[in-house]
Amino acid sequence: MKPIKVGLLGIGTVGAGTFNVLKRNQQEITRRAGRGIEITMVADLNTERARELTNGECEVVSDANLVVNHPDIDIVIELIGGYGIAKDLVLKAIANGKHVVTANKALLATHGNEIFKAAQDQGVMVAFEAAVAGGIPIIKALREGLTANRIEWIAGIINGTTNFILSEMRDKGLDFDVALKEAQRLGYAEADPTFDIEGIDAAHKATIMAAIAFGIPMQFEKAYVEGITTLQATDILYAEELGYRIKLLGIAKRAHVNGQEGIELRVHPTLIPEKRLIANVEGAMNAVLVHGDAVGATLYYGKGAGAEPTASAVIADLVDITRLATADPEHRVPHLAFQPDAMTDTPILPMSEITTSYYLRMHVADLPGVLADVTRILADASISIDAMLQKEPAEGESQTDIVILTHQTQEKNIVAAIAKMEALSTVVGKVIKIRLEELS
Ligand code: HSE
Repeated sequence: MKPIKVGLLGIGTVGAGTFNVLKRNQQEITRRAGRGIEITMVADLNTERARELTNGECEVVSDANLVVNHPDIDIVIELIGGYGIAKDLVLKAIANGKHVVTANKALLATHGNEIFKAAQDQGVMVAFEAAVAGGIPIIKALREGLTANRIEWIAGIINGTTNFILSEMRDKGLDFDVALKEAQRLGYAEADPTFDIEGIDAAHKATIMAAIAFGIPMQFEKAYVEGITTLQATDILYAEELGYRIKLLGIAKRAHVNGQEGIELRVHPTLIPEKRLIANVEGAMNAVLVHGDAVGATLYYGKGAGAEPTASAVIADLVDITRLATADPEHRVPHLAFQPDAMTDTPILPMSEITTSYYLRMHVADLPGVLADVTRILADASISIDAMLQKEPAEGESQTDIVILTHQTQEKNIVAAIAKMEALSTVVGKVIKIRLEELS
């Protein structure tokens, strides 16, 4: 059979990795796919570099429209990123009857519903393994491997930059700003790290996982997003004393509020027991913990970024598409795991309605009755205390830190209790609140 022809949009780090791995493992990949897979066209604004990287082995153009409109191209790989031009090109490729492979989580989390609808109408595939957790085949696992399960929850370390920063903060006792600079110096964080450190990149990935785990549309705008920029080294230290690590988790979870089903979709720093495997995922690595009703907990670990790990996911999609290209569209794996007419409108819960445990740290006057006042507020709100840590005041100081871990409660209850604590004359400044998940 003739090789399937692929057009690559953007030959940066991942694009070059894809070109190289495809070439290096061509024989193995062809044996698996049943026919050759050839990148025959590359579009990149830097045509000179693109020619160097591809050694004159394919046509290089600067206008990506030439690729998505080319009649010989069967699959378009979109590695441009962002929501602007990438969206136009993906929609044009689909309209031209081409299959699409993309690593673009921002695009799918924000415009995925429109893109998948267009693909459905055209009978083409849009594959996106590389969009979540780089080289970890988490989309495959959620969409196919775990298809027997009712998925209960997902909790993932799905941003390597922030995990690297948090590891540095814990290992070396660094403050956030210093750890960020170190991450930038070593190339783990970009010059503009906003998407990573503010939790936006993780929220894009959590949105995609929630859609395929629960059969709901992409709803990035309803995700709660909190990054790591205000996290203090002190809290990482106290968490450790209590047997916990702090990780930036992307969480997607089924929940019931007043008898109604809802979905929690949230990204925030989270205390997790240090004995959990996922708590020990260090540096720039990623891991995703998925709980299905039949299988129980399963854990997926690996590199969430980088040229060849991400290329591994891109090429897996190319092989999938090559195998299924001649199949009747009705018999392919649905884009979002569930049949398009079987999606549900289970609502994403507002943050006030989510249920979790909490770490609270407050700076207080070291006076009789202060602890009693604080615990009374929690008791009045029916919030049960799980553990507590009180520090000796430093030499010559009359104030100290109290740390409290609570059992589960709704976010609105803890927010109201914190407001009452902050109103006490003996509580100095703001109460620090970090969510805690036992992940058991
Ligand atoms: N910037 C991401 C990370 C990788 O730090 O994990 C691409 O999504």
